[in-house]
Amino acid sequence: MLEQIKKLSTEITHYPVQNQEDLEAFRLKFISRKGAIAALFAELKQVAPAEKKTIGKLLNELKDSAQERYKALAIQLSQPHEKPAQHTEDLTLPPATATLGTLHPLTLVKTKIIDLFERIGFSMAAGPEIEDDWHNFGALNFPPNHPARDMLDTFFVSQDPAMMLRTHTTSIQVRVAEQQPPPIRTIAIGRVYRHETISARAHCIFHQVEGFYINHHVSFVELKETLHYFLRGLFGQDIKVRLRPSYFPFTEPSAEVDISCQVCNSQGCNLCKYTGWVEIMGAGMIDPEVLSNCHIDPEHYTGFAFGMGIERIAMLLYQINDLRLFTENDIRFLKQFAAYA
Ligand code: DAH
Repeated sequence: MLEQIKKLSTEITHYPVQNQEDLEAFRLKFISRKGAIAALFAELKQVAPAEKKTIGKLLNELKDSAQERYKALAIQLSQPHEKPAQHTEDLTLPPATATLGTLHPLTLVKTKIIDLFERIGFSMAAGPEIEDDWHNFGALNFPPNHPARDMLDTFFVSQDPAMMLRTHTTSIQVRVAEQQPPPIRTIAIGRVYRHETISARAHCIFHQVEGFYINHHVSFVELKETLHYFLRGLFGQDIKVRLRPSYFPFTEPSAEVDISCQVCNSQGCNLCKYTGWVEIMGAGMIDPEVLSNCHIDPEHYTGFAFGMGIERIAMLLYQINDLRLFTENDIRFLKQFAAYA
């Protein structure tokens, strides 16, 4: 009997169970009422009374271990079993090529502008995007009630003291002129903010470049020559440039600068409103009052300044008809500039 118990015990531990059918076979073979353990219990009657107790105990243990294995196997089979990892990599395949990004059209234009002005000795400057009233308006001769200070145009960050998102990069002109003695020959490029409804032609965030030159005897002729050089460099030697009298609080005299329409070759189209000319920037001689505000003596120094929107230049240069495309990050749009980089 002892031998039989031992044999059965090894059989129970090693019985192969792979699936539910095997498990059922295990149950029938060992645990069920007609199984091997039950058969041994039936034989217990014939065991000598002295050994009955020990054999009975061993049989109970055998029954317990069979039931335990059965339970453990049942749990194991009920859990979804993971497939062994399959090696599907094909090591002979050539590597996937990385898709390269392209430069944003505004970055392309910015780089061109910097390059052109660097060649004629202009340096670069930057300023804060959150500006105070003095640098954005006050020093630039905007009277206290000037409409540009209005909530409708300006995003105010705080009222007292008045802090705002800069509405133009002309604020950097003040910052540089306050800190640096002339001669100053600088351009500043940056983001500006205005309270505008977003459309194909306007956005509340856009970019400007501001340029200015302050020295002894700087004249309007130099302004005109600088702009001619710049616009020809950007749009090509055939471009025609026209200056129209205009008004800005910080320049006197002031001008608006037009170029011949690149889209229709000055024949008249939607973009130039059938005039053959497109406005591209504002410019002028820095108002003596502005120079004084920056502690530069207007008796000894004069200067010119100009400012323009970078999006507008990019639109003309690459024939883009919707301002929103610059900020939407649509890959189909951005990819088209790969050739220009
Ligand atoms: N600050 C002007 C604007 O945002 C642009 C401008 C016009 C800048 C004339 C200048 C200038 O320096 O002389 O519309």
